[in-house]
Amino acid sequence: MTRILAIETSCDETAAAVVEDGRRVLSSAVASQIEIHARYGGVFPEVASRQHILAIAPVAQQALRDAHLSLNDVDAIAVTRGPGLPGSLAVGVNYAKGLALASQKPILGINHLEGHIYAAWLYHDHPTPEPQFPLLALLVSGGHTELILMEDHLQYRRLGGTRDDAAGEAFDKVARLLKLGYPGGPAIQKAAQRGDPESVPFPRPWLKGTWEFSFSGLKTAVLRLVRRLEEMNKPIPQAHLAAAFQAAVVDVLVGKTLKAAKAFGVKSIVVAGGVSANQLLRERITSESPVPVHIPPLEFCTDNAAMIAAAAFRRFQAEQTDDWGFDLMPNWRLG
Ligand code: KG4
Ligand code: ZN
Repeated sequence: MTRILAIETSCDETAAAVVEDGRRVLSSAVASQIEIHARYGGVFPEVASRQHILAIAPVAQQALRDAHLSLNDVDAIAVTRGPGLPGSLAVGVNYAKGLALASQKPILGINHLEGHIYAAWLYHDHPTPEPQFPLLALLVSGGHTELILMEDHLQYRRLGGTRDDAAGEAFDKVARLLKLGYPGGPAIQKAAQRGDPESVPFPRPWLKGTWEFSFSGLKTAVLRLVRRLEEMNKPIPQAHLAAAFQAAVVDVLVGKTLKAAKAFGVKSIVVAGGVSANQLLRERITSESPVPVHIPPLEFCTDNAAMIAAAAFRRFQAEQTDDWGFDLMPNWRLG
């Protein structure tokens, strides 16, 4: 049995978790900064790193306490090394190096995106079926929209990604346009419940013949419509626009993912990253896919440290621990 304590501070959540054998979550503590950043309408990097400094030690202590373990009981320390905000990553990496040094345990620097994918292996009490290889991962977060093919553990082939805005970024920007607040994804999802997804025929950017995405045109289409209504002194139908925008994004994400799954003959699909918390996306991809779809429980879709421990377990098994001196990789890509 291998237990890993992981730390995650790549953006605006300070998180720590203990996971057993890369799957069973013994604890997962997350201190969110959302309320603080909501005042600025987005993440303010300096504020984020200061908050991580305040929260990191209590959050790590809480993760150990909730797991009923002490630092001596874990086999390794893992930490997000990138991608992310440099000032935020540095807090977690330095803290994790300190823990590893004090306890003389091995350390692993983990790719945040790899973590999001491995969230699909996590469970609390009852084991869930494991994703089967080859698998296709749709990674949709605030900073990324990627289709990644995995032939086996830790093997990543990036098929394509976004040419402009990430899916989550588009949700956040459109929510701001519609004055729905931050973070945009949950706000749009909520407003969309009262709207008609067919009220406005927003464009579906298919980029046929590629595995790439583009969401900035869709965002501009919403912007133009909002401006035109404002000029005419007409009310903005927030719910209808939210529903129509969400439907367009989900159509493209589901359509392209299923097409790639077929083209590469995968045995399963993993949907991960903050946007995988979206209810419409979850329902549509699950009901339309011919192969099993694995989507992490909601709490492990958005940033958390359990997913970092899950990925670290595979690297630990493959004896890929890191040296003390490793640096941050704020622009680290996967595959
Ligand atoms: O993975 P994540 O927590 O952080 C990054 O690594 O970026 O993803 C955050 C993104 C935000 O853009 C947020 O608006 C989006 O995930 N998100 C959602 C939902 N919940 C979070 N997007 C659509 N629907 C949701 N329910
Ligand atoms: Zn993330």
